Amino acid sequence: MYYSQEVVDEVLANTDIVDVVSAHVHLKKQGKDYVGLCPFHNEKTPSFSVIPGKNMFYCFGCGAGGSAITFLMKYNNCTFREALQDLADRAQITLPAPNYSEETKKREQHRQDLLAVNKEAATYYYKLLRSRKGERGMKYFTDRALSAETMKMFGLGFADGARSDLTDHLRKKGFSDELILESDVAVFNEKQGLHDRFFNRVMFPIQDVRGRVIGFGGRVLGDAKPKYINSSDTQIFDKGRNLYALNLARRTKADHLILCEGYMDVIAMHQAGFNQAVASLGTAFTPGQAALLRRYTKRVLLAYDSDGAGVRAALRNIGILRNGGLESSVIDLRPHKDPDEFIKAEGKEAFQARIDSAENSFFYELRILSQSYRMDDPASRTAFHREIARKLCGFADEIERDNYIAAAAEKYFIKTDSLRRLVAQYGNANGYGTDTQSGAGERSKTFRSGRNQGESKDFRSRIPPGDGNRESKSRAPQAGGNGAAAARPFSRRLAPGPTRAQKALWEKQCLLLTWIIDDPRIFPQISRYLQPDDFDGEIYVRTASRLWDQLRKDPEAANAASVISSFETPQEQEATAAMFNSHLEGIEDKNDREKTLRELVFFIKQASLDRMTRAGGASSLQTLLTAKQQLQSLRSANFHL
Ligand code: GTP
Ligand code: MN
Repeated sequence: MYYSQEVVDEVLANTDIVDVVSAHVHLKKQGKDYVGLCPFHNEKTPSFSVIPGKNMFYCFGCGAGGSAITFLMKYNNCTFREALQDLADRAQITLPAPNYSEETKKREQHRQDLLAVNKEAATYYYKLLRSRKGERGMKYFTDRALSAETMKMFGLGFADGARSDLTDHLRKKGFSDELILESDVAVFNEKQGLHDRFFNRVMFPIQDVRGRVIGFGGRVLGDAKPKYINSSDTQIFDKGRNLYALNLARRTKADHLILCEGYMDVIAMHQAGFNQAVASLGTAFTPGQAALLRRYTKRVLLAYDSDGAGVRAALRNIGILRNGGLESSVIDLRPHKDPDEFIKAEGKEAFQARIDSAENSFFYELRILSQSYRMDDPASRTAFHREIARKLCGFADEIERDNYIAAAAEKYFIKTDSLRRLVAQYGNANGYGTDTQSGAGERSKTFRSGRNQGESKDFRSRIPPGDGNRESKSRAPQAGGNGAAAARPFSRRLAPGPTRAQKALWEKQCLLLTWIIDDPRIFPQISRYLQPDDFDGEIYVRTASRLWDQLRKDPEAANAASVISSFETPQEQEATAAMFNSHLEGIEDKNDREKTLRELVFFIKQASLDRMTRAGGASSLQTLLTAKQQLQSLRSANFHL
């Protein structure tokens, strides 16, 4: 964390979360709160609410929740710092400057300068396209059916025939020749001196995830070669670690991203409403780009050209995606060449249908492989089956492997048992999950199965409500610091899941924390019996500690947003938000509520004492005795609401 909690609290105190959220979500007032359609999952009836009283939001549909910082982090897919900066700007608060070394400061300044040159160049091309000198470029884009709105969204521009207009323009703006050269919008030779890199080309500014222009692609208007020229890598432009249009696609509601080959493909897709499309930057797809994608999605659909080169690239990238922990499928564009042509010829409904029927990449690999064998020749056919078996060994997870064996057997008319025996034979010899080239070994380790969005939802709704907990609608965040189940799709399979009893306990902890946030006046009564350490699970302990600290200072002032924002990752923030949003329902009677409160405290305290006893030597006898006494007195304690 770069900023102190005081700074964070100051920003939050000057932020109206309703303002922040309603810039992106249509909110309707409902009682004291606001409701709307959740921007983090697709829904038709609103389960997303903003609670101004707690300065937080929460979605009962998908479990997303947190402070205004969490909202921006999730919505913009940005870091804690960026979100905080955003809110500080709105609130006109100047954040204290982080303490950088001189060298870091210089390097950062240089990057800023390079960004400034790129930005100025992009503006120059953008304006030129829309001027008289840009008519040829405008005609080109219009002929390719791009709307003015699309051109604007992608910041498209034009470089005309002049050889040094941009360079001169940048000099006039005060940029040095060195900087202009280094940013690669100009090149140098003896004859011409410093002159523009791009001319007679339509220009595609390339933006990083934050929307800052970091380089350019320029396309010829006709059929001349090279068709595209791209800026070379610079200090701010790393082709292997950025993706075209990711700044737009990261906001998609789709549960996947589509990776395609060309800038024009991406643009055509976005124009047709497929805002989940991205492309690599004129170079082969890299593991760095897979890692980048992995920050935004778990599932990638490949929309590569249907020609031989496209197929080869798809096969290669399936492996890269798999190694990067991503599940992939392949969109079949035949008989058309690429997404751009497909959409022009068949329209967006047809394209959506191809998305829906995208082929699992494992079967895609098998299908392509099958083309090198002759199924009517027994020897060739056998060799193919052996190859299938070998690839199936790549699945480390037995259940997943079995499912693939069954599916592959059915597809290629092999007896399931024979294929299973063949796989076992290879597997016994070479092990499973090792064939990262063709199988799913790597993926199986980090990421066992696909459709994770759906799956994690199922998982959460399967959390049993716990004993006598009819009233609870809460979804207890998993202990251990990782937050709601949705936020930890992998580790849940690696670590043994929580037991029933543990989940019941977590739900009660949530109920109590929500109760305290809603009615902080009960805190002094509760803190007589419960300390943060009495909570089970690291994230609960940390949350309770923050809350206890706050309330000890000022028993009236529980501040959910502040507690949430003391956690850095959106997962933790979400988990904490969930703790403050469980619901006690249907107990109207004051006496009943008081009784319920006492039972909650008792239950949590007893669980704590049980853990202490089990841990044995870890706690001193004195602590144990005190805890026992507290538990005893809880039996007859009276809580007052
Ligand atoms: P159109 O042909 O205008 O539809 O463009 P496209 O974007 O569909 O291009 P294409 O499918 O031919 O190529 C895919 C991507 O490869 C392009 O978007 C570029 O990033 C890159 N590319 C294509 N041709 C060249 C080239 O000559 N040089 C370089 N460096 N990259 C190229
Ligand atoms: Mn094309």
